[in-house]
Amino acid sequence: MKRILITGATGFLGRHFVTELLRDDPQSRVHALVRPKGQTSAQQRLAALELDPTRCHALAGDLSDSGSFAEQLPVIDEFWHLAGLTEFHEDKRAQLERVNIEGTRQALKLAKQLDVQRFFHISTAYVCGLTSAPVPEDGLLPSPRFRNPYEETKYLGERLVRESSLPWVVLRPSIIMGHSRTGAVESDKMVYGAVKACHLVMRLPGRLQPVIRLRRRAPRYPA
Ligand SMILES: NC(=O)c1ccc[n+]([C@@H]2O[C@H](COP(=O)([O-])OP(=O)(O)OC[C@H]3O[C@@H](n4cnc5c(N)ncnc54)[C@H](OP(=O)(O)O)[C@@H]3O)[C@@H](O)[C@H]2O)c1
Repeated sequence: MKRILITGATGFLGRHFVTELLRDDPQSRVHALVRPKGQTSAQQRLAALELDPTRCHALAGDLSDSGSFAEQLPVIDEFWHLAGLTEFHEDKRAQLERVNIEGTRQALKLAKQLDVQRFFHISTAYVCGLTSAPVPEDGLLPSPRFRNPYEETKYLGERLVRESSLPWVVLRPSIIMGHSRTGAVESDKMVYGAVKACHLVMRLPGRLQPVIRLRRRAPRYPA
């Protein structure tokens, strides 16, 4: 039986990921690090995802806290680190650093305490920053420039993973819009939210028609 510890299970990617993980390996057991929110406990938040409660257990915790969770866990084989902050504005820099860099440091520390066989880190394709040069799969560019603090903090988080002595795997998705087979899209982030809003407006009764004007602009940065 494989025991997996996951962070970010309540997120856009995590919810689907845990469902698929449990489906693909009927022997696996998942322990999810979940933050309590307001009056809602970690257990209640995980239960809301409607996963098999006999195979999926909540561990209440926040990666920004320095507390250790290791003693509350059984032997863990794999650690999947999905938790991250996906905000892009400069005024979120401090929170981004706390979650994407320090949170990753905490996850690595916990993985080491648990002596896991493998640490899987969900990075992003945007760790390449602003470059037109080929981006190596097996490393990071030495010092790219970034569009926003999200890219920068994900870069620094991935660097911590690569420098660690754990057996790690780094995965770099680009932009996840929805399910590859069903086509279902849930994300309200960025342009998808606007497209969904337009779609809703088009279904309103009456003659209201949204107009989207797309203009090509010169890139803000030299390639
Ligand atoms: N979505 C994409 O297109 C995309 C593309 C490339 C890479 N990624 C990466 O994939 C991962 C998941 O992204 P997503 O789109 O699923 O993001 P999301 O929907 O915002 O989910 C983020 C998850 O991280 C958890 N989290 C944040 N801060 C935490 C903390 N301090 N302690 C514990 N858990 C914390 C959140 O918990 P709460 O529910 O408590 O907030 C949530 O479960 C991220 O690392 C992101 O950088 C995403």
